[in-house]
Amino acid sequence: MVAPVTPVVRVFPDLAAAAGALAEQIVTTASEGLRARGRFGLALSGGSTPVALFRTLLNDHPTAVPWDHVDYFWADERAVGPDDPLSNYGLAARGLLDPLSVPMARRHRIVGEASSLDREADRYAADLRTWDRKRGPEAPAIDLVVLGLGADGHTASLFPGSPRLDAPVSVWVEVEPNPGLEPHVPRVTMTLPGLARARSIAFLVAGPEKRDALARVLRPEAGAGPLPAARVRCPGPITWYVDRAARGPGAENPDRPG
Ligand code: 6PG
Repeated sequence: MVAPVTPVVRVFPDLAAAAGALAEQIVTTASEGLRARGRFGLALSGGSTPVALFRTLLNDHPTAVPWDHVDYFWADERAVGPDDPLSNYGLAARGLLDPLSVPMARRHRIVGEASSLDREADRYAADLRTWDRKRGPEAPAIDLVVLGLGADGHTASLFPGSPRLDAPVSVWVEVEPNPGLEPHVPRVTMTLPGLARARSIAFLVAGPEKRDALARVLRPEAGAGPLPAARVRCPGPITWYVDRAARGPGAENPDRPG
């Protein structure tokens, strides 16, 4: 059982500034992790906000970390191949991993084009377990998971109302994402119990269309029930990097806990 933590909320003028601060956290924790443990596992998400993160990592920190020693995972993936514009892996490959020449062996992608997504979910869960075991039985599986927030309160591919949010597995298949959400394709996703094994988690959220969901996530008592993003827990810090448009009026001070 992972105890509830108070999330830290950092507010920035715009997405570029929020992504820049998250990039600095990644550089610091990856450098420390590689130095202290010889390994660093970073899980990425899809959507549009990661593009800003990849851009700043690539442009501002290309040599700050031996990026080819980092192991990359994904919080979720859509049921498409890597060359499809909808692919979360493809987004990261084009925007970050290819330009940094990260070897394929470090890219623990979810195979969205697999003929059986259920088998792929099991295979990916086993990949996570194997990586985990190499670190010792008690170690968290991934050092840092970067998540986004949907306007409906979803994160990764964990959607409000899904009956399997608490499934006691680390990875599973969502065949029916929120019908209003594009792209409406099945997904393979880490679950709440899977995310709960991460050493730390960071959300990157931008834009006025996220404001209501963000307010409900950060003050769940004000909403009609906890949204999936509000239920994310892990043993270490959960930090929200948000822009002012998403946080709303009054969110003027960067670094101020919300
Ligand atoms: C996906 C995601 C998803 C995403 C949010 C936020 O594959 O769609 O991983 O959870 O992070 O929908 O998306 P934006 O970055 O576009 O705001």
